Amino acid sequence: MDSAEENEMLKLLFQYQHGFIISKIMFTACELGIFDLLLESRDTLSSAAIAARLGTSHMGMKRLLEACVGLKLLKMERKSNEGFYGNTDLGNLCLAKSSPKSQYYYMKFYSEFTYPNFQYLADAVREGKPQVQPAYVTPAKDIFASMYSSDEGVQRFSNAMDSAWSLYGQEMMSAFDLSCFPVVCDLGGGSGALAKEYISLYPNATVTIFDLPKVVKTAKKQFVSSEECKISFQDGDFFKDPVPEADLYILARIFHDWDDNTCMQLLTKVHKACKPGGGLLLLEVALNEDRSGPLEAHIRSIMMLLFTTGRERTLSEYNALLSAGGFKEIQFKKRSFYSAVLGRK
Ligand SMILES: C[S@@+](CC[C@H](N)C(=O)[O-])C[C@H]1O[C@@H](n2cnc3c(N)ncnc32)[C@H](O)[C@@H]1O
Repeated sequence: MDSAEENEMLKLLFQYQHGFIISKIMFTACELGIFDLLLESRDTLSSAAIAARLGTSHMGMKRLLEACVGLKLLKMERKSNEGFYGNTDLGNLCLAKSSPKSQYYYMKFYSEFTYPNFQYLADAVREGKPQVQPAYVTPAKDIFASMYSSDEGVQRFSNAMDSAWSLYGQEMMSAFDLSCFPVVCDLGGGSGALAKEYISLYPNATVTIFDLPKVVKTAKKQFVSSEECKISFQDGDFFKDPVPEADLYILARIFHDWDDNTCMQLLTKVHKACKPGGGLLLLEVALNEDRSGPLEAHIRSIMMLLFTTGRERTLSEYNALLSAGGFKEIQFKKRSFYSAVLGRK
């Protein structure tokens, strides 16, 4: 190895070693409201003005702002020897709360729930089972029982899940022509972000969102859509209760929460309920066939190890599951982040 190669290797080591600090810098800037303030103010602001408006120390704020400039979340221009800060496009688009594509609530969920729980990753690897907190204190049935122990927990998770569809919902709903499926059921559909995307593409369709009672209760209270009459909610447990009859079942980020046997249980039930000629659409982050990546699939699969009994899978593994569940004509579409798998009854 020459010294240039060694330098490159050490840069990679530094980046990996400090990845969690980089996350926390971004989460903290979101939490303190820096991106919101800078989006609203429309003009760049000095560190002293930002600290005063957000009620923080000047010294701490200046340090955080400089780090955010280094990470390209903010930009800084000098005017009469003083730094003035503004959002970069990334800050405006993804980190300010009011942006339609905001990932603010995803950051909040990662900061408050995912980040502290990651200290138990070694335990999850040693024991080969999830380490959901506070599972050690009050054994929880699964991650949802743990996260949904308070209304705030339900809301926090739903908001986080919805954020992803503001970025990728449209491309995933248009991955296949689904116009032949007028009656749709989104199983584990949360607060309905994907259902809204479906209706905006297929205005003649109706979508029933089926989710756990606590999720449906919260979602109904908050649901705002011009398409309200086309989207309805039904509460229940998709393992225990009958699922609504439909032409198309959407299972978005559901299979990765469960092991193969549990997925088969759900698949068998959906196949029975599905109308002949109907379909099943899975949306997941797919692993490459040789399991070499992509990084987003490995990251999610590690999260599933820590929090659930599930995992991320290759498209061949989804193909095998759907075939075993009786679905035919299985097709795949890989998109920028998620993949879509469509099977027919
Ligand atoms: C990872 S989230 C995905 C949410 C949504 N499909 C999305 O992609 O944004 C899993 C969803 O499944 C729901 N869920 C978990 N267990 C369930 C069950 N037994 N019956 C019905 N829904 C369930 C959760 O409440 C949650 O909304």
